Amino acid sequence: MTTRNTPVSPLVLGAMSFGTLVDEETSFALLDRFVERGGVWIDTADCYSFWVSDTGQGGASEEVLGRWLAARPHARQQIRISTKVGAEPLWPGSWPEHRAGLSPRAIRAAVEGSLERLGIDRIDLLWLHQEDRTVAIEETVDALAALTADATVSRVGASNHPAWRIERARAHAKSLGSTPIDALQLNSTYLRTRPGTLPPGVAHPFGVLSDEQRDFAVANGIEIWAYTPLLSGAYDNPAKPVPEVYEHPGTARRLAALDEVSDARGLGRGQIVLAWQLARGIRPILGGSKLDQLEVAMDAAAIALSVDEIALLDGPL
Ligand SMILES: NC(=O)c1ccc[n+]([C@@H]2O[C@H](COP(=O)([O-])OP(=O)(O)OC[C@H]3O[C@@H](n4cnc5c(N)ncnc54)[C@H](OP(=O)(O)O)[C@@H]3O)[C@@H](O)[C@H]2O)c1
Repeated sequence: MTTRNTPVSPLVLGAMSFGTLVDEETSFALLDRFVERGGVWIDTADCYSFWVSDTGQGGASEEVLGRWLAARPHARQQIRISTKVGAEPLWPGSWPEHRAGLSPRAIRAAVEGSLERLGIDRIDLLWLHQEDRTVAIEETVDALAALTADATVSRVGASNHPAWRIERARAHAKSLGSTPIDALQLNSTYLRTRPGTLPPGVAHPFGVLSDEQRDFAVANGIEIWAYTPLLSGAYDNPAKPVPEVYEHPGTARRLAALDEVSDARGLGRGQIVLAWQLARGIRPILGGSKLDQLEVAMDAAAIALSVDEIALLDGPL
């Protein structure tokens, strides 16, 4: 637990690799440190991480979180759990063609499984993991409304959805007197992809935060959470090249601006990216596997960029 003087951190801890690429001991150490440093939100999904699990199915991340919560009973007072439904393969090897999706039946079954693995009776934020156009969004919202009505779920969010579908979902939720989607989770970083391309790891055409999605969120008071904010380490790890989809003249200009700010402050480029996102009201989701990376990232929340630094970083498109 934090001391009374520890500020609450706006950063989110991504638990995607816990229980698969990150072993349980390391996962616990990262979670403990996150809590000590004032962390609140943890991000997982029922399907994490089926693509690297022995079974070909998800669940390992939620199970590790469940064991950690059981071992740290006081942590639940501070921690908020966000998990996702809809992207679990129906059977090993069936993704992306056959996944659980967002029908009311699939949502009910997924939530039951997540609560069981996490060992909790309430999900603080439930994300629709990726859109499912085989189901009317109104039917999905009806299922979410039942879950918020009985307090199984406190808030609902949407990941990898276009703005118009979310607006339709929000309108239906409001007509029911239910809790509308109030958070978006999308791939977002400082560099911008070339039009018509998707970064590695993004399987959805509307998965990268666009100017329109951001405008929609800001105008409606909807939170934005950014996944893969650090380009998997490419800003600071020379062994990791910046993915090809970011190759265009604007990237050279943005990297030069980033170097100017990070060099002047003697800080890492990734730290400046996180501080810049926070200054724009975007919550980065950290996906680190090492304690020192977590420390460096959490330090970034205390960086107050000046108006001039933000203007310099915003300048080159
Ligand atoms: N909604 C969705 O569809 C979706 C999709 C993807 C992810 N997510 C969420 O977003 C979270 C984060 O995603 P991500 O893992 O892609 O994010 P990321 O923060 O861009 O990448 C994390 C990786 O960056 C490297 N790194 C971190 N700090 C570093 C530093 N100071 N110096 C050098 N390298 C550093 C580490 O790689 P090494 O370990 O190799 O050093 C780390 O594993 C996930 O856990 C998940 O919760 C959601």
